[in-house]
Amino acid sequence: MDIKAPRGTYDILPDQAHKWHYVEKCAHKTAALYGYREIRTPVFEQTELFVRGIGEYTDIVKKEMYVFKDKKGRSMTLRPEGTATVVRACLEHNLAQSSLTKLYYIGPFMRYERPQAGRYRQFHQFGFEALGSRLPSLDAEIIQATFDFFISLGLKDLQVEINSLGCRECRPAYKEALVTFFNGKAEELCSECNNRLTQNPLRILDCKSKNCREISHVAPSIFGYLCGECKSHFTKLQEYLESVKLPFSINPLIVRGLDYYTKTVFEIISNELGSQDALCGGGRYDQLAEEIGGKSIPAVGVAIGLERSISILEKRGIVIPTDADLDVYLVALGDESDLVVHSLQKDLRDSGFRVERDYIGKGLKNQMKDAHRSNAKLAAIVGADELKSKSVTLKDMKTGEQKMHPVKSVIEIVKKRLEGGSWS
Ligand code: HAM
Repeated sequence: MDIKAPRGTYDILPDQAHKWHYVEKCAHKTAALYGYREIRTPVFEQTELFVRGIGEYTDIVKKEMYVFKDKKGRSMTLRPEGTATVVRACLEHNLAQSSLTKLYYIGPFMRYERPQAGRYRQFHQFGFEALGSRLPSLDAEIIQATFDFFISLGLKDLQVEINSLGCRECRPAYKEALVTFFNGKAEELCSECNNRLTQNPLRILDCKSKNCREISHVAPSIFGYLCGECKSHFTKLQEYLESVKLPFSINPLIVRGLDYYTKTVFEIISNELGSQDALCGGGRYDQLAEEIGGKSIPAVGVAIGLERSISILEKRGIVIPTDADLDVYLVALGDESDLVVHSLQKDLRDSGFRVERDYIGKGLKNQMKDAHRSNAKLAAIVGADELKSKSVTLKDMKTGEQKMHPVKSVIEIVKKRLEGGSWS
């Protein structure tokens, strides 16, 4: 067949689904623990939302968005990230009126990037967004919640890196200093960074090319330019993190690829992921709500890449629990037994057991093979003898032990047996 999944996308096949169930379960659990409530927004939005929210000179907006015209000629975009969409929804529904609003989301996002290990055109994020406070204690909570999510997955020893990007007041002077510095080195910078020099000089700091990295290491640091408020915000954040012994380091080269950040930015990275080493990224975005036409709402958030989270679980050999095995496989021998098995299957399901039966018309031997293959804990067999005595033979698939029981007591006995009790 010529039709394939689009480049940079992939199918999550049934034998992989349990991994997604696992990370999603941990995500919902962490969100509940921290008091974040779920929000689901559309997968496409008006293009303008992202142009104004993320910034017209960012790589995402310039090169990576899936933009299309709808039937009325309006420009729409498949969401490349969740923060702008969540802020749009909060403004539209007056969610962040007076008190703090804590939200989370899990879902697919689309960016037209060059696919490589850990980088896809459709990927999944789990994100937290907290709107309504300027205090650094909230930045600390977001970092802590993210860290705890990874711990709940079984991931320890991850590097938390934080930085400050300053604010409207202090960043322009820093930008100017960077432009002056990099202008003197323009010939040594890559061509992409030469463009960034006029459009987005901060992004030169996280260019992956070797030359640009070396130059960036000796570039002026933001810490010489932060205003009093930004400086104290950053110091306070560190105090909060230290007070809960959350290990972190300061990396002045974290600038993030979206223009909405103010003050705190952070990433959690792992060297095991190669060049796409960021498991998550986030920060404060106090001006985003205004940028997209709403009132001023200070906010902070993060988005965690779920593909990269699963990839590191696999790389570290962390055993991801599989979905529960079957409780009972029902085996029928003959038409009459088939009806008994059919109704027994319904009764067992009604009682909450995971059961399966044959729908192909297989004989005893092959039905028992299927019972083994499905990892069922018990087989329930109904043949001529069982029909005569209105009973069912229950077989323990591990020990091979088996015994006949009256049909009416089967559910009770299955329950007892699965809880580790005896047949009687
Ligand atoms: P971001 O850094 O663009 O931030 O993405 C966050 C995470 O999503 C990355 O660290 C990475 O794990 C994953 N990710 C991004 N692009 C891809 C891709 N093409 N393939 C696979 N994984 C990817 C944001 O999206 C911001 N909205 C985060 C945020 C929330 N800031 C404040 N609130």
